[in-house]
Amino acid sequence: MQSIPFFLHGGDYNPDQWRHVPGTVDKDFELFPLAGINSLSVGIFSWSALEPEEGRFEFGWLDDIMDRAGKRGMKIVLATPSGAKPNWLAAKCPEVRRMTGDGVHPPVRELQGARHNHCPTSPVYRAKVREINERLASRYGKHPALALWHISNEFGGECQCPLCLAAFRDWLRAKYGSIDALNQAWWTGFWSHAYSDWDQIERIDYSVDGLVLDWRRFITHQTADFLRAEAEPLRRITPEIPVTTNLMGFYQGLDYMSFAREIDIVSWDNYPHYHERPGETEKLAAFTSLTHDYMRSLKRGKPFLMMESSPGPVNWWHHNRLLRPGQHRMKSLQAVAHGSDSVQYFQIRKGRGGSEKFHGAVIDHEGTGGTRMFREIAQVGRDLQALQPVLGSTVLPKVAIVFDRESDWALKASFGPLDSIKNSYDATVAAHYLPLWKRGISVDVVDGDSSLDGYSLVIAPCLFLLRDGFAERVGRFVAEGGTFVATWLTGIVNSTGLCFTGGFPGPLRKILGIWAEEIDYLYDDERNSVVPVPGNSLGLSGNFDTSLVCDVVHAEGAETVATYGRDFYAGSPALTVNRFGKGEAWYLATRGDAALLDALYGALAARLSLPRAIDSDLPEGVSASTRVGADGERYTFVINYASEPRAVDLGQATRHDLLDGAAKSGIVEMPPFGVMVLN
Ligand code: GLA
Ligand code: ZN
Repeated sequence: MQSIPFFLHGGDYNPDQWRHVPGTVDKDFELFPLAGINSLSVGIFSWSALEPEEGRFEFGWLDDIMDRAGKRGMKIVLATPSGAKPNWLAAKCPEVRRMTGDGVHPPVRELQGARHNHCPTSPVYRAKVREINERLASRYGKHPALALWHISNEFGGECQCPLCLAAFRDWLRAKYGSIDALNQAWWTGFWSHAYSDWDQIERIDYSVDGLVLDWRRFITHQTADFLRAEAEPLRRITPEIPVTTNLMGFYQGLDYMSFAREIDIVSWDNYPHYHERPGETEKLAAFTSLTHDYMRSLKRGKPFLMMESSPGPVNWWHHNRLLRPGQHRMKSLQAVAHGSDSVQYFQIRKGRGGSEKFHGAVIDHEGTGGTRMFREIAQVGRDLQALQPVLGSTVLPKVAIVFDRESDWALKASFGPLDSIKNSYDATVAAHYLPLWKRGISVDVVDGDSSLDGYSLVIAPCLFLLRDGFAERVGRFVAEGGTFVATWLTGIVNSTGLCFTGGFPGPLRKILGIWAEEIDYLYDDERNSVVPVPGNSLGLSGNFDTSLVCDVVHAEGAETVATYGRDFYAGSPALTVNRFGKGEAWYLATRGDAALLDALYGALAARLSLPRAIDSDLPEGVSASTRVGADGERYTFVINYASEPRAVDLGQATRHDLLDGAAKSGIVEMPPFGVMVLN
């Protein structure tokens, strides 16, 4: 399979919207080299331009773009147009339009319009998509500019039409084999919900939590099936061209760990809220880094592409603040630091109309390269050229954090135990990630099906659902010397959402050496405290605040490291460690504040000698991460996310900064949003 020869610097480009304005494309191609734009993502929503009427195709405009790009050595990311269906198709074949349902009333067919709203099951839509994809592949498959297939756009949502529901029943039949097995898995004796025939499953009954969990899994399955159908002609006609689809970070509707198996390269659309209020910088920067790490982890460390990001403000936040000078470069190189082999944008040229006419772009309405953002983009273009040796390298963490989408769905599908926890799973994971990020310690993201081999530390925050086999894998990991950290609300339900019997945290009880007998949920503004046991093995001291969730825990072999300070369970374990085989299993029974998490992971990092990208304490707002090449070369990215200068201690050894060519060592002053890439 072809690999991508340089860092892609480009983005969504819609010349089809400008065909009535002669000279636009000429002007764009004059501007591209000035900004170091070397790639274009074309055709993403172009179905009505490519096939204005059924069976009448117009490829001329696209031929022109492909040829211009080819002549200049640029690379094209060529999209299939299924992300938005043309009006003629929706009018002729209503089944391509999605049906939305609330699980109570009969689902309703959507009217044509907007985008990202086709039925993934419709044979008509699949046939039409196949036809146009076949034409694209046959026409451009051998074109020297073609680098990558971009399938559809941001797959998401769901359809509850009769075709999708029938496919759901087929999927259930294949999964469970018998209706009895399904009834048991879903606990349908409750409220007399037992099914005696598959056809009785005719709605998404939100009172049956097992059904809802399986429906979510089915959506991933069916979306993947649609993607496979889309990719089939491309893979057949152009087997050497890799296939991607642009993902959306922590999007909740799909299980990306399994979905990503369908694509060759992971790509995703990154829109961090960097202009939030002061004081939020670290949290936002760490969350964005975590999201990049998650995307990299979908293919176990293979570089990903940042398919979209905004060169300037977007148009869809409450406050679309301008990027401060230098911020564009900072967030672009942040992606590269975490494993991206591209910096791509939505969009290259800002449209005059449509719902994104106020969204940031490389070329603004003004139309020249004379804008502040254009100059900042050009700087990133030069940076990416300087970083060419970094291309293809990866990140090799010793720490894995478990983020499991199925667990998230299972918790959301349950009635209770606490609503305010349900929409904060990614924030909870991020809270455990932040102390590592601050120390420049790299992290992978895994789920309950992943291998834990090769890690020193595995963290499972709020892992409500345990997949089959997960506890056994954790047991082996710890017995062989690994360190495992689990928290409150872990090990509550099995893979079909049934509560574990025999005491929480279910099959992890023995490994953790504790029993979580009860769970206390505090009012939002209520606090308890966590009090380290004097002389505890981790060296924790001082008191910490905790909120929201307090498991009432019995130590069953585990050592108590800290206890609760208040309430009827004052003095009972709040943090424990169990020695299990050659390793240790920690249980944090309560949410804990940032200071507690910082102290916990700071102590564990020191104890496990976790590798840090820079061997000194990083100032507030600065983080560092290292990419390692196949040849063992190390590239350490140091980024100042703060809007003030920061001094970083690089230590005695002299290193070379790929970005400015300077030799660096000792204390270095970084400007606001400054970046170094040290080799
Ligand atoms: C998404 C879409 C793009 C565009 C941008 C705007 O990522 O894929 O088509 O709508 O958002 O931010
Ligand atoms: Zn459907």
